[in-house]
Amino acid sequence: MPSREAQEFWDQFYGDRAQVWSGRPNAVLVEELEGLTPGTALDLGCGEGADAIWMAEHGWLVTAADISQAALDRGADHAAAAGVADRITWARHDFSQSIPAGPFDLVSAHFLHSPVDDPRESALRAAAAAVGPGGTLLVVSHEAVPWHEHVVFPTAEEVLESLALDGDAWDEQRLASRPRRATTPDGVEVDVTDSVVRLRRR
Ligand SMILES: C[S@@+](CC[C@H](N)C(=O)[O-])C[C@H]1O[C@@H](n2cnc3c(N)ncnc32)[C@H](O)[C@@H]1O
Repeated sequence: MPSREAQEFWDQFYGDRAQVWSGRPNAVLVEELEGLTPGTALDLGCGEGADAIWMAEHGWLVTAADISQAALDRGADHAAAAGVADRITWARHDFSQSIPAGPFDLVSAHFLHSPVDDPRESALRAAAAAVGPGGTLLVVSHEAVPWHEHVVFPTAEEVLESLALDGDAWDEQRLASRPRRATTPDGVEVDVTDSVVRLRRR
């Protein structure tokens, strides 16, 4: 069943504010894509589209997917302003039901977490299945954030395990905890830790 509750939650999350995220691409995305030949990319849980726009500006042909139409519309406006509207397809999916059909040269999922009907595990498995031969799967997740101090997030090893992959079909390129500075929803600078899983399909 599609999750009406999740759709309403995320549409309200984005609809309540003119802009939620910084508009800058995630730092790990920029680092990890260095040296990769651009091709087709899927941004799973694209939010307002800063990663998708950055990828399009760097030669990728991007499908940007999210449950929130409000977020996708905002992303499309930003992409038009950045002159890359023709390089991004915005696709509304509830990942508990579907993700865009692959294969893709890159599937990137950054902070695919949700307090409502979290589709994470099945969505990330579908994401791995959507990576074509020679392609890359990049999953970046919260590992420790002070504004969610009671939530236990998985380590990179646990994320990898949850993907239940055929180990013979993939090369592990990164399995790491990565500290960074971040700004809380209240505007305070804090230390956070992300987990990074980067895999290449053989
Ligand atoms: C924490 S935000 C991360 C956004 C972006 N990737 C970033 O790094 O800023 C999680 C995103 O996942 C999306 N999402 C949550 N549940 C979803 C679902 N069931 N199907 C599709 N997208 C979902 C939300 O709308 C939101 O944009």
